[in-house]
Amino acid sequence: MKLRSSVVFGISALAVSGVHGTRNFQRQCRGLAHSLDISGARDVFSEFVPSGTVVELPVRDPSCNRTSQDVTVNLCRVGMSVSTSDRSGIYMEAWLPEHWSGRFLHTGNGGLGGCIMYEDIEYAASFGFASVGTNNGHDGVYGDDFLHNPDVVADYAYRAVHTGVVVGKDVTQSFYGTPHTKSYFLSCSAGGRSGFKEAQDFPEDFDGIIAGAPAISFNNITSWSCSFLPTTGPVGSPTFVPMDMWPIIHDDVLAQCDEIDGLRDGILESPDLCDYTPDCLICAEGQTTGCLTPTQAETVRTIYSPLVGEDGSLTYPRMQPGSEDTEAPAAYYYGVPFIEYEWFKYVVFNDSDWDPFSLAPPDYTFIHNQNPFDVETWKGDLSGFKERGGKMLTYHGLKDGVITSEISPLYYEHVSQTMGLSSSEMDDFYRLFRISGMAHCEGGPGAAFIGNTRRNMATEDPDENVLWSIVRWVEQGIAPDTITGTAYVNGSKSAGVAFKRKHCRWPFRNVYQGGDPDLEDSWGCVYSGLNVS
Ligand SMILES: *[C@@H]1O[C@H](CO)[C@@H](O)[C@H](O)[C@H]1NC(C)=O
Ligand SMILES: *[C@@H]1O[C@H](CO)[C@@H](O)[C@H](O)[C@H]1NC(C)=O
Ligand SMILES: *[C@@H]1O[C@H](CO)[C@@H](O)[C@H](O)[C@H]1NC(C)=O
Ligand SMILES: *[C@@H]1O[C@H](CO)[C@@H](O)[C@H](O)[C@H]1NC(C)=O
Repeated sequence: MKLRSSVVFGISALAVSGVHGTRNFQRQCRGLAHSLDISGARDVFSEFVPSGTVVELPVRDPSCNRTSQDVTVNLCRVGMSVSTSDRSGIYMEAWLPEHWSGRFLHTGNGGLGGCIMYEDIEYAASFGFASVGTNNGHDGVYGDDFLHNPDVVADYAYRAVHTGVVVGKDVTQSFYGTPHTKSYFLSCSAGGRSGFKEAQDFPEDFDGIIAGAPAISFNNITSWSCSFLPTTGPVGSPTFVPMDMWPIIHDDVLAQCDEIDGLRDGILESPDLCDYTPDCLICAEGQTTGCLTPTQAETVRTIYSPLVGEDGSLTYPRMQPGSEDTEAPAAYYYGVPFIEYEWFKYVVFNDSDWDPFSLAPPDYTFIHNQNPFDVETWKGDLSGFKERGGKMLTYHGLKDGVITSEISPLYYEHVSQTMGLSSSEMDDFYRLFRISGMAHCEGGPGAAFIGNTRRNMATEDPDENVLWSIVRWVEQGIAPDTITGTAYVNGSKSAGVAFKRKHCRWPFRNVYQGGDPDLEDSWGCVYSGLNVS
């Protein structure tokens, strides 16, 4: 790969190759746990893991559902617990590859966030990054550990990642005997929020941040993601839209909006321009199946309208049309509480009996005002990050069924206005790519393989891989104008490439220009401007 070799300069001169080198590496790794001196750390271990090993992972909480991880390079695995207060702490691991590039990388977590993303740590370590992840201050996917313990909330809001960075860089330097050259962050969803939190509050931590589908405006997205339950009501209630209607609604969305980008191909390049109405699906007289009652149609309209608060102002943007065939129906429209309602239970109301059907606009105000440790993550001033030369590469799937993609341009515009920067000035340090046909962080019928995870990687070419793209931007000053994604036949790599598409950066949108739609150059980026609700 021509481009990659120009990026992967600087495999550490310290990494001695060959059998002797590996024996040294093993010995140094075994000794590391005893030589580390990290304040607040306990239960430190270090073990050599040869390439090809399937590492058995500690089951700190079964809900994390990660029991093993394939390891594809020789590395030194370090683990420890680090206290963050007298009643809280993180568990963290650092995976230090034998062939170190000099780079440091920190990963993030999903949802309420108590599960280390070992697959991301391994992905980066396999490319020579010293890679770190934490449990975000508690174990498992649930929120009960937050109850009556604001220090665990603080870890979730900001402290786990920052602590992981400080300790992780220290461990990296102790092990290799020299500080890292550049530091990176890679994550999506709740971890995307952590990436923005770092840019806002700890701008020195990273040179480059990849923050996908970020759960920013955290309090408000919590209101939004919990608002679907009272909107649909329980299964079978008059407001509830039967699950078998969502594919029909999806076809109706495509009928109304697929041509906005110039081509009817089942993929919306600009769902923000889609002013969807379910009116055509309202049951004709005597019709009882494959249609919506007026009450159900109102439910659909509510879902595709912005969530407004008590005073009628925006709380959170609408679900983007086109996501009906992704995670959204099962996650949000199924008449059961979404996992984030535990934030209301255990952080906002401290009430294990709180009824998620009772959520109402005054609660949006309450959670917004509570905002512990500024978990909201909505500061518009990124000048600290910009001035230290930091680069932010963010992406959002335009079919995201968990975090609507409309939040990402909204925050971009907030930063642009707060800092008084035009989009070409924003381009210096902050680029947002909207990925058509991509669901939440991965998946979907679009050209959605962009290298944000190993599972979601097509190639290592920086034009097609966000991790190598941010490295090229930070280290060579070559900023990405587009990100090329790959779609596979039936979404399966083994079935071969279906097509590639160049995803435009905001405020541009992708428009079909003519010719073979499977060719990247049959599409072009045109100015879009702010059209989010
Ligand atoms: C656990 O992970 C496996 C493999 O990734 C998956 O098939 C299974 O559905 C998961 N189980 C739960 C409860 O999430
Ligand atoms: C979040 O919601 C609150 C309450 O509705 C509102 O006042 C605030 O402006 C919202 N924030 C954003 C970024 O929309
Ligand atoms: C819940 O507890 C937290 C701290 O433990 C406190 O800040 C908050 O005000 C409490 N919420 C309510 C509704 O009492
Ligand atoms: C893709 O899926 C379709 C429908 O399920 C099937 O007919 C076709 O053979 C698949 N193609 C490949 C290359 O797997």
